[in-house]
Amino acid sequence: MEDLSAICGLPIKFDPDTMQVSFGKGIADPLCGTRELEALRPLLLDQEAEGPECLYWMYRYLFAKGDRDLLLGKHRLRYDMSCFVPGMLGREYMKTSGHYHPPVFEGGIGYPEVYEVIYGEAVFLMQRVDDYQAGPGEVKVLDVIAMAAGPGDKAIMPPDYGHVTIITGDEPLMMVNWVSDDFSSFYGSTEACHGFAHYLIEEDGSPKFIPNETYTQDVPELRYAVPKEVPELGLVKDEPMYLACRENPHLFAFLNRPWDFEELMWAGVCIQE
Ligand SMILES: [Fe+2]
Repeated sequence: MEDLSAICGLPIKFDPDTMQVSFGKGIADPLCGTRELEALRPLLLDQEAEGPECLYWMYRYLFAKGDRDLLLGKHRLRYDMSCFVPGMLGREYMKTSGHYHPPVFEGGIGYPEVYEVIYGEAVFLMQRVDDYQAGPGEVKVLDVIAMAAGPGDKAIMPPDYGHVTIITGDEPLMMVNWVSDDFSSFYGSTEACHGFAHYLIEEDGSPKFIPNETYTQDVPELRYAVPKEVPELGLVKDEPMYLACRENPHLFAFLNRPWDFEELMWAGVCIQE
């Protein structure tokens, strides 16, 4: 069992061989869900790919006992954890289904999110489109960013950027997120497009992005970014963001009021020229 309490700030242990998670006594029961390979098939480059039946486990509304009323009730913030098996699905690296967040209010910017990697390695692929509900024939991709992250990194998903998590290491990936509890994610168009505008595949032993030919409009060149600390938003590499939020929940107001924090959020997504 790996003890993750130092990196995530909650008493959690994880067995990378069995994917079993054990929550310490101080944690209130989260809401559990799984994502199966069958559900992910429409989003894959190789839709006939073989793989384990269950690809990832989600634990939503994960709180230490006594924190829920303040963080969820008063600040409308939800903390979740997800655990992913590593490996390939056909030529493609294991990944999540990918989704968009809606705007906070009509005509406004979308809800952002922040992930923290607590075990393993990930690449977050983010894309902004002109209409996140449009199908592959109409949708125009305006920007695509790939950001690699490892243990301790805080990865901000800026407003209006749909995101998919790709599991790049040989080890399972464990990550947590803080996000507003006031919206539901949108998955439909990503499924119709068979994933995002790029697939991360392995070629000659190395990872390589290739275009998703389902998108018929021109797609801009992929940009690369690295995650950067933003102490003004409570995001510091060596500090678990669960504890940062519990101590200063107002620092995480960017998740519900993104228009006031756009510059700070982009400070956390350091584009590599
Ligand atoms: Fe999200």
